[in-house]
Amino acid sequence: MSTPMNPHPLRIGIIGAGVMGTKHAEFIAREQNATLVGIADPFTTTLAETTEVPSYTDYHDLLAAPDVDAVIIANPNVEHVPTALAAIEAGIPALLEKPVAVSADEASVLSLAVKAGDGVILVGHHRRHHPAVAAARGMISAGELGRIVAVNGMWLTKKSADYFEQSWHRTAGAGVMLINLVHDLDLMRHLVGEVTTIQAIASNAIRGYEVEDTAAVIVSFDNGAIGTFIASDSVVAPWGWDQSTQDDPQFPFNPDTACYSIAGTDGSLAFPQLGHYYHDGESNWTHPLSRRFHATTGGDSYTRQLRHFIDVARGQSEPMVTVDDAAATLKIIESAHRSAATGELIRVQP
Ligand SMILES: NC(=O)c1ccc[n+]([C@@H]2O[C@H](COP(=O)([O-])OP(=O)(O)OC[C@H]3O[C@@H](n4cnc5c(N)ncnc54)[C@H](O)[C@@H]3O)[C@@H](O)[C@H]2O)c1
Repeated sequence: MSTPMNPHPLRIGIIGAGVMGTKHAEFIAREQNATLVGIADPFTTTLAETTEVPSYTDYHDLLAAPDVDAVIIANPNVEHVPTALAAIEAGIPALLEKPVAVSADEASVLSLAVKAGDGVILVGHHRRHHPAVAAARGMISAGELGRIVAVNGMWLTKKSADYFEQSWHRTAGAGVMLINLVHDLDLMRHLVGEVTTIQAIASNAIRGYEVEDTAAVIVSFDNGAIGTFIASDSVVAPWGWDQSTQDDPQFPFNPDTACYSIAGTDGSLAFPQLGHYYHDGESNWTHPLSRRFHATTGGDSYTRQLRHFIDVARGQSEPMVTVDDAAATLKIIESAHRSAATGELIRVQP
C-alpha cells in the first residue's frame, strides 16, 4: 500500500536483460513499492516482451524517459562504469551490479563522478543484506568469538555449459575471482576486517578459457587474522554460499554444509548456520566443545537489497555498499589477479 510520503511505487528501469536482469525483474514484480517501467538491452527484447514494458536498445534513452525514477544496471562487467556514469549524468539513482568496475582505476573514475555529481549508486553486493550476515557481524563485534584468528571460505560448484555461451563470461573482466570470489571477500571485509595482503593461485585447467575457473587465495587482515579461500565454477561440490543459504531458489539447498568457518580465541562460528562452538569452563583441545545455534530469520537478500535500494533512491537511506566500499573489495581481487600472474604476495593496502 502506498503511503502519503511515497505516493507511487518507485519506477525502475533495468539495463541488461540477461540472467541477472531477469531476476531483478522478478524481484520488482513481487515488490509492492516498485514497478518495472522499461528495459534497455541492445541484443534482446525478450524480457521487455514478457514483462510488457517498453524496450530500448540504447540505455541513454531509458535514462531519459520521463517515467524512470531509478535503474538497475545488470549488463556485462566492462559496461558497468560507463553505464553508471551515464546514470549519474542523467540524475538517476542506480543499483549497480557487482563488480563495481573491472579495475581499481576505473572504480576511481566512478568514485570521483559520484562525489562531483551527487551520484546515488548502491553496489549489488547483495549478500550483505542477508540476516545471517548481520547476526554474524553482531556476534563478532560483540566479542563472542574472542579475537578472530583464522577464517576459511569455500565457493565450489559447477556452472552449466550454456552460462559460458555468453562470450564475456569467458574473457578478461569475468572469471571465478571477479564474478564469484568477489562476494566472499567482500563479506570477509564486512565481517572480519580490511585485507592487507593476498597471495593467489589461479587455474583454467578444466574449462580452458582465457579466465580462471578455479582459484585459491591466502589473505591477511589488518587486525592480524589470516584466511584461506577456494573457489571453482567447475566442480561438483556442496560448499558455497549458493548451496548453503537458500538465498536464491534456483540453487538446491544443502542444509548441512557451511561456506565459512570463522575461528577466534574464545570460539568459532560456522556460517550460515550460525553454529557457535565454544568451551564451557576450561578451554583447551581436551575439553569437549559446546555448540549453540544463533537464531536468525531466512534469507532472500535480493528482496532486502531491493527494498534498501528503494529507500536509497528516495533519499531516505544511505547506500549500504557505496562505490568506494565496493572499490576496496575490487582492489583485493585485482591484487589476487596480479599475485596469480606473478607468484608474488601483494600488499593490498599499507
Ligand atoms: N549479485 C549477484 O550475485 C550476481 C549474479 C549474477 C550476475 N551478476 C552480475 O550481473 C551482471 C550481469 O550478469 P549476467 O550473468 O546476467 O550476464 P548476462 O550475459 O546473462 O546478461 C547481460 C545482458 O546485458 C546485455 N548487454 C550487453 N551490453 C549491453 C549494454 N551496453 N547495455 C545494456 N545491456 C547490455 C546483454 O545483451 C545481456 O542480455 C554482471 O555484472 C554480473 O557480474 C551478479
